[in-house]
Parts: sequence; C-alpha cells; structure tokens
Amino acid sequence: MADAWNKKYVLKHKNIAVTEIELDEATGAISAVGPATDERHLPIGVFVRKGRIDRAALNEWWRGRAIPASRDGIKEALLELRLSTTHKLLDKSLGLSLSDQYWICPLDTDAAWSQYNFFENDFSEDVGNVLLGKGGSSEAISLMSPDNTSDGWLKKKWTIMDGRRCLVKGGSGATQQEPYNEVLASKLMERLGIPHVPYTLMVQEDYPYSVCENFITPQTELVTAWYIMQTQQKPNHVSVYQHYVNCCEALDIPDIVEALDRMIVVDYLIANEDRHQNNFGVVRNADTLEWIGAAPIYDSGSSLWFSKPTALISATRKITCKPFKTDHAEQIKLVTSFDWLDLSRLHDIEEEFREILKGSLFIDETRKEALCTTLRKRIEMLSEIVQSFTTTGWSDDRKSDVSINVAYSGGEKADNDN
Ligand SMILES: Nc1ncnc2c1ncn2[C@@H]1O[C@H](COP(=O)(O)OP(=O)(O)OP(=O)(O)O)[C@@H](O)[C@H]1O
Ligand SMILES: [Mg+2]
Repeated sequence: MADAWNKKYVLKHKNIAVTEIELDEATGAISAVGPATDERHLPIGVFVRKGRIDRAALNEWWRGRAIPASRDGIKEALLELRLSTTHKLLDKSLGLSLSDQYWICPLDTDAAWSQYNFFENDFSEDVGNVLLGKGGSSEAISLMSPDNTSDGWLKKKWTIMDGRRCLVKGGSGATQQEPYNEVLASKLMERLGIPHVPYTLMVQEDYPYSVCENFITPQTELVTAWYIMQTQQKPNHVSVYQHYVNCCEALDIPDIVEALDRMIVVDYLIANEDRHQNNFGVVRNADTLEWIGAAPIYDSGSSLWFSKPTALISATRKITCKPFKTDHAEQIKLVTSFDWLDLSRLHDIEEEFREILKGSLFIDETRKEALCTTLRKRIEMLSEIVQSFTTTGWSDDRKSDVSINVAYSGGEKADNDN
C-alpha cells in the first residue's frame, strides 16, 4: 500500500502533525526532517535544538520501533517476507503500534488515525504467523501488521481474541520456560497486590505461549524507561536509579519510587535477569500528554533460571541483574520501604508454580522440583533482608551500578549482560 505513495510523510501523534519526514527507500531511515509543527507531541527524548529537531535522536527512536535484528528466527522470517531488514517493515504498516500512538501519514493524503490504528481496526496476522514460524502460505502476505513495530527478542505476535488485542509470546531454548515464568510472576504479583499485566498460558502443537492483553488503550501510551532517561543528561556522580527517579520527578510522573520498590522486590524474588530499560516504563495520556504513572509490570519471563541448566539452579549463585545494579543483592538495597510487603501471602506459591509447570513437555521432574525449591529459598532470603532493613534504609553509593545499560545502541539492543 505505502509503496505506491510518495516517500514523504507527516509524523503524527494520533491526528496531531508533529513534523514532516522523508524515508530513505534503501535503508528505511529518516533522511530528512522538517521543522516541528507541534513540539510538545514529539516522542519523549527527542528534542528541538537551535530550532531543529535532532535527526539522530529521531532516527534512533524510529529505528527502535523496528523488530530487533536479534529476534529469534528473524532471518527465516525475513526470507519468507522477501525483505532484507526489519526496518523495511516499518512504513508498510505506517509505523503504527499497539504500544503507542505514533504513525506516519503519507504526505498529501488526508488519512485519519481512526481509519488505520490497530486498536480500533482489525489487522492481518500474516506477519505474526511468519514471525512465529507458522507462515508458509502461498498467498500474498499482508504487511499491515502491528507486529512490524513489536520489540523484544522472543517470537511473538499480536492477535485479536474476543475483540481484545493480545500479545502471544513464545519461549526459548530447550526448556521453553518463559511462558510459565510469566504466569508465575503474574500470580506472585497478584498475591502481593502489585500492579501487573496478567499473563495466561496457551499450548499450541505442544509448545507453550504466554498470552497477555494490551494494557495500552487508544487514549494512552507506553514510554519506556530508556526514553524517560533521555530527557536529562545524567551527571557522572548520579546513580542510574537516581537519574531515573530525577527524570520522572522533573516530568511530574506520580508515585515512581513506590512502583520501583515493587518492581525491584519482584525481580529479586523471581531472580529476573532481563529487566532492561525497555522492560519497564510509564504510561501517559496520548491526547492530553498527562503522565498517568508507572506502567504495570510486564515481561518478567527471563527469570527463574530460565537459561540455566538444572545443576546451576541456585538461590545464592550470582546472576545477571538489571536495570540499576549488576547484582540483585545490591539492587534490593534501593528499596525505600517494605511496609507494603506481606511475604506471608506467598505461602505455598511454590505449589502454585508446580501446578503451572505440570503440563510442560520441556521441563523434566528434577528441574520442576529444583525451580520450586529455589523459588522458596528466594522468598526466605528476601524475608531476611526485610528483617535487616532499618528505618534509615540503605544508601545508594553507585556501587555495582550498571555501566552503560542503554537498552538500544544504534537501533539494536546492546548486550548489557554483566
Ligand atoms: N501487554 C502489552 N501491552 C502493550 N504493549 C506491550 C505489552 N506487552 C509488551 N508490550 C510491548 O512489546 C514489547 C515486547 O514485549 P516483551 O517485552 O514482552 O517481549 P520480549 O521478547 O520478552 O522482550 P525482551 O527482549 O526484553 O525479553 C515491550 O517492550 C512493550 O513495548
Ligand atoms: Mg521485553
């Protein structure tokens, strides 16, 4: 569809024109950008300097909308779609997403957001099926898909179930553990009263998938922490945690410290290894630009020793930690209050985990047992930490701060394993 149109577009935020851009046909990058027509509606982290929009920042944001080149199975998917890079998919669906309200409208057309957005209009599942490795249809593939702008490493697709937009996400490796972890994390947060995205399990052709509903509506949008952290220069003496809190406070985003307390606790309990800066964030009203608050916790699957062989499942062995510290034992010290936390509500949660894992063909009995026992140990370890916490708390001395921890580097996710 877009191919027949000019390669000049208006970048829009719903129906508000933000600026004009030109896309380079060969690379899909923004080759030219006009003046800002509504500076307030620019993507967060993209600024106007000396009267001009920072094209490098806008390009980084634009390329960051594409499916990462590291996505599991992307080479095969691109072959099937007959495309050289995932960036080429962006304009095919007008850059529309189900996580925010930006899109590109071909210049000199008066297309309205209501005609195209994926919240209110049905969409093809062709691209999603190809991404899940379930393509192979000989018929022409429709490229009008919200999957063109989906982030993350795991195979996934958006689908419409009973009129609701849902994200279906697979697992990885020999144990395919991530979908089970998402469900366990949901149950754990439900018990602790922590705002979260609920995930359920779906099994198709013996493979597990997690399913969660879109938490974004046509009136809201997700802005991930990485973009929030671009709104200010981080001074060297300020820790990553404090920098994020400072940025949120400067923007007047409510209740961030409380939300971070809860996220850090969850990640400690489930031994999360991948809470990078695009795996949490805030929600704003896309019409009024009012900040609503922290996004409910999503993407908690890269946890619970998902990539470790059974013999290395241990509550005390050091594992990767993000986004603030390189070690969970240090990161937990950033929590300002445990007053809200009632660990007795996790009584028997390991039994619930055992139930969740029951049907898996990929996780054997020894592993199931090790996972449940070790989850219980994490709860006991946290309980000891809570008891040692005094009213004065701990200080954040930047010890074990993550070094760069950018979620993206040149449009690609950086390897920020520690
Ligand atoms: N329920 C949802 N509603 C709206 N947007 C969502 C939802 N779940 C995920 N997203 C968006 O989709 C992106 C990819 O999803 P997710 O983080 O779950 O995938 P992933 O492959 O596990 O990522 P990673 O590479 O971080 O492991 C998220 O970063 C977020 O922007
Ligand atoms: Mg993610």
